[in-house]
Amino acid sequence: MSVLAVSNLAKRYHRGGKPFAAVDDVSFEIGPAETLALAGPSGSGKSTIARLVLRLIEPDAGRIDFEDSDFLALSGAALRARRARIQMVFQDPLAAFNPRATVARVLDDPLRIHGIASRAERPRRIAALLERVGLDAGLAAHAIHEISGGQRQRVAIARAIATRPSLIVLDEAVSALDVSVRGQILELLLDLQRRERIAYLFISHDLGVIRAVAHRVIILDAGRIAESGDARAVVTNPQSAIGKALVAATPKLIRNRP
Ligand SMILES: Nc1ncnc2c1ncn2[C@@H]1O[C@H](COP(=O)(O)OP(=O)(O)OP(=O)(O)O)[C@@H](O)[C@H]1O
Ligand SMILES: [Mg+2]
Repeated sequence: MSVLAVSNLAKRYHRGGKPFAAVDDVSFEIGPAETLALAGPSGSGKSTIARLVLRLIEPDAGRIDFEDSDFLALSGAALRARRARIQMVFQDPLAAFNPRATVARVLDDPLRIHGIASRAERPRRIAALLERVGLDAGLAAHAIHEISGGQRQRVAIARAIATRPSLIVLDEAVSALDVSVRGQILELLLDLQRRERIAYLFISHDLGVIRAVAHRVIILDAGRIAESGDARAVVTNPQSAIGKALVAATPKLIRNRP
């Protein structure tokens, strides 16, 4: 059984009047509690794949099966209900949230919109979500712009897990964090995956991070899959030219870390 199965996905854009494939014949599957990483140089199509999977944009060709049903065929209430099961965390939570909104408000929204908890229950649920991501319940009253980048990314993760998703798409979710905070957030993601069996589509340009958290990796080059396989094996011994170039650009210390 797979959580997500993507087949022959394609998305074209225009550049200088000419069409080009941002995503070209991409297929992959992610199983329950599995982390699949997408790596590749800037412009290789990673975020476009994320947006397609989230149905923020529609593909020109291909198929997306989510929880064993045809995701692209869903619309209206059925799409809204299924969409709650796929969540996202982006690089910059300041851009994703209203910076003046309180943490409580940001976490209240999914609980209310998806009818997960009654108004009376929600403050308790919000406190439990904060605790789940290692934050003090007292943070609920603070505005998003008042808290640190690491705290904000924990709030983004709390919001993502509020609807009990089976898949979270993380697009450079730890890239803007400094090294020590990054490590703590990665630990949190691993812990959540172990406990709640969440699958991750984990986009990162950092092969050291991918080696640390991903089970498998796909390396993209100009919208196409250049190679894929076990994350450690690919990072240790890449086969494709683009994989070799990416690994060569990664510090040796990270590459060979046990
Ligand atoms: N809305 C759009 N209109 C036109 N071209 C686009 C659009 N979105 C993305 N592209 C182009 O598609 C290609 C893939 O972009 P994408 O954002 O998926 O790359 P990426 O791998 O996420 O890069 P990065 O590592 O810089 O985030 C790029 O050439 C980009 O310029
Ligand atoms: Mg991107």
